[in-house]
Amino acid sequence: MAQAMNAADMVSVVRIENVFKEYMLGEQKVRALCDISLSVDDGVFLAIAGPSGSGKSTLLNLIGCIDTPSAGKIYINGEDVGGKTPDQLADLRAHTIGFIFQTFNLLPVLSAAENVEYPLLQFRELGAARRRERVAKYLKIVGLSQYADHRPNQLSGGQRQRVAIARALATKPKIVLADEPTANLDHKTGEGILSLMKRINRRTRTTFIFSTHDRRVMAMADRLVKIEDGKIAMLGVRTARHWSVVRPAKFINLDMVQAEQENEDDN
Ligand SMILES: Nc1ncnc2c1ncn2[C@@H]1O[C@H](COP(=O)(O)OP(=O)(O)OP(=O)(O)O)[C@@H](O)[C@H]1O
Ligand SMILES: [Mg+2]
Repeated sequence: MAQAMNAADMVSVVRIENVFKEYMLGEQKVRALCDISLSVDDGVFLAIAGPSGSGKSTLLNLIGCIDTPSAGKIYINGEDVGGKTPDQLADLRAHTIGFIFQTFNLLPVLSAAENVEYPLLQFRELGAARRRERVAKYLKIVGLSQYADHRPNQLSGGQRQRVAIARALATKPKIVLADEPTANLDHKTGEGILSLMKRINRRTRTTFIFSTHDRRVMAMADRLVKIEDGKIAMLGVRTARHWSVVRPAKFINLDMVQAEQENEDDN
């Protein structure tokens, strides 16, 4: 399965090899991920789908270098993250990865503009004037210029989500990771946020990796990874309007995902 994906890949911005993740819960071992291998092409819009508890957030946290695997290797931009010190990891994260959390994780005492500016403070090469320009540019992209001075509690859920997107994008990361970005949003707001992310993906070739339960996210994706019980159950690759699906050890043309797709189009 991993080989089938690799054969099609020219550039892998993320490569995961035989990754396992176990958590200790008291005396008990919980296996969250079991032998995951996957490579992600540069510039794709990838959705990770699966039931609650299947390991989606765990996988995103590993890709985002927020957590480390129990076994296996993870390469970000060709670099093995396993051998890095915490400082080197923090540096890699700051320059390569933008994270959008399900609960947005904005700092409540900071304004929208200050929240977006916050991760930029660690870029010494950016002076205050250029930092402010960058903040204004990304607030504009997400349509929040007039809310720059609002604190998170003075913004709606969708607006907060857009601040979180602006914050994730302002550092110009190669990869944006989003853990269920539409889960806390109403239908219409979720749709707006998704098409915004898709536009940014297409315009800047930023790689987007989402975890989601949302069919609309899957419908927008050009790669789909379904995980069940910590294992990859299916990989989908979209070419034009059709999905090809890689199941363990074979390639089949799948009607199921296409059918889901068509249902989506009906809504
Ligand atoms: N810190 C932890 N300690 C112990 N077990 C954990 C921890 N984090 C996750 N798990 C377990 O690992 C498994 C995968 O969890 P994960 O959060 O990755 O699932 P998920 O697919 O994101 O679910 P959801 O859709 O509900 O967000 C679950 O069985 C969960 O209980
Ligand atoms: Mg989760």
